Amino acid sequence: MENLRIPGPTPCPTEVLEAMSRQMINHRGPVFGKTLAEVTEKLKLLFQTKNDVFVLTASGTGGLEAAVVNVLSPGDKVLSVSIGVFGERFATIAKIFGAEVIPLRFEWGKAAESDAIRQALKANPDVKAVLVTHNETSTGVTNDLAAISEAVKEYDKLLLVDAISGLGSINLPVDDWHCDVVITGSQKGWMTPPGVAMASVSPDAWKAHAEAKMPRFYWDFGKARDYLKKQQTPWTPGMSVIFALSVSLNMMVKEGLPNIIARHARIAELTRKSVKSLGLALFADENYASNTVTAVAASNGLDVARMRKILREEHQTVVAGGQQNLDGKIFRIGHLGWVTENDIEKVIAALKVVLPQAGFKGGNQ
Ligand SMILES: Cc1ncc(COP(=O)(O)O)c(C=O)c1O
Repeated sequence: MENLRIPGPTPCPTEVLEAMSRQMINHRGPVFGKTLAEVTEKLKLLFQTKNDVFVLTASGTGGLEAAVVNVLSPGDKVLSVSIGVFGERFATIAKIFGAEVIPLRFEWGKAAESDAIRQALKANPDVKAVLVTHNETSTGVTNDLAAISEAVKEYDKLLLVDAISGLGSINLPVDDWHCDVVITGSQKGWMTPPGVAMASVSPDAWKAHAEAKMPRFYWDFGKARDYLKKQQTPWTPGMSVIFALSVSLNMMVKEGLPNIIARHARIAELTRKSVKSLGLALFADENYASNTVTAVAASNGLDVARMRKILREEHQTVVAGGQQNLDGKIFRIGHLGWVTENDIEKVIAALKVVLPQAGFKGGNQ
């Protein structure tokens, strides 16, 4: 089997894949209804929330669009806290739907600073919501969301969080950190194929929803809430992915959230240590380095495209490249979801062989 070490889609356990091949049933019947209700309850547990949680048939980006259109009106001011590609995407969605976006950008590889957020909110008292990425997959940085939330709530603003590649792997207590809308995606730490986004919605987000005027139909949380009362979704759901999610959530609940979080921390630490022992440098500020994806700087002659090709063709190992401005400058190792130390040890062993073949002149090669 290929060692798929990109930050999503991630490998899925056999039981999860087998659930995908289940025969179709009535998506408005009692059996699917029970599965949907159970999935929703388990998600609440893993989101650490009493807020409403919805399963949307979409990739993560669909979930981000849902977060925007359900709480905002055209002309609303939003503060976009951006530390990479996905922070920019969240801002772009808000802009396209007519929000006035105030950008607050931090250098890629660094985390957002909560004091700068305080200053921006002080300077823009009419901001309605703050958009923030929990775990920036493009740079391998996890923001200090607890500190960011504290700043945002001092100014009593809505907090919309892209937690697509962090939730379920890195601690994010949605209620304790007062997050109003939080989005994640099935193909990340949830050990499930792509196709489902999950969203939590706070009471304050519901108040905003009642006033929000951005166009919405498919994404309307109100419709999702009405249908969930009947154990249904408004539209035909991606049932096979939900069957798979139901199995992976059982596995996650059995492992226990604290154990999952600790496993990710342990494996991330091993990844960072091993990468450095090869003579490579981390791209992310190590104080905020992500426990789901490690971004590695290409230095000392390393040709990332060549390295990835040799890894893929000769070592059945797939790592991710850099996105946009970071193309050719970094590569990324995913370690989220169904991952063990052994998966990382295999990547490191392959890198040891491939780095010199791909021009790397650093370290002890
Ligand atoms: C932080 C973050 N936001 C948004 C997305 C976009 O999700 P999708 O590709 O599922 O639409 C991703 C996917 O890599 C992500 O990691």
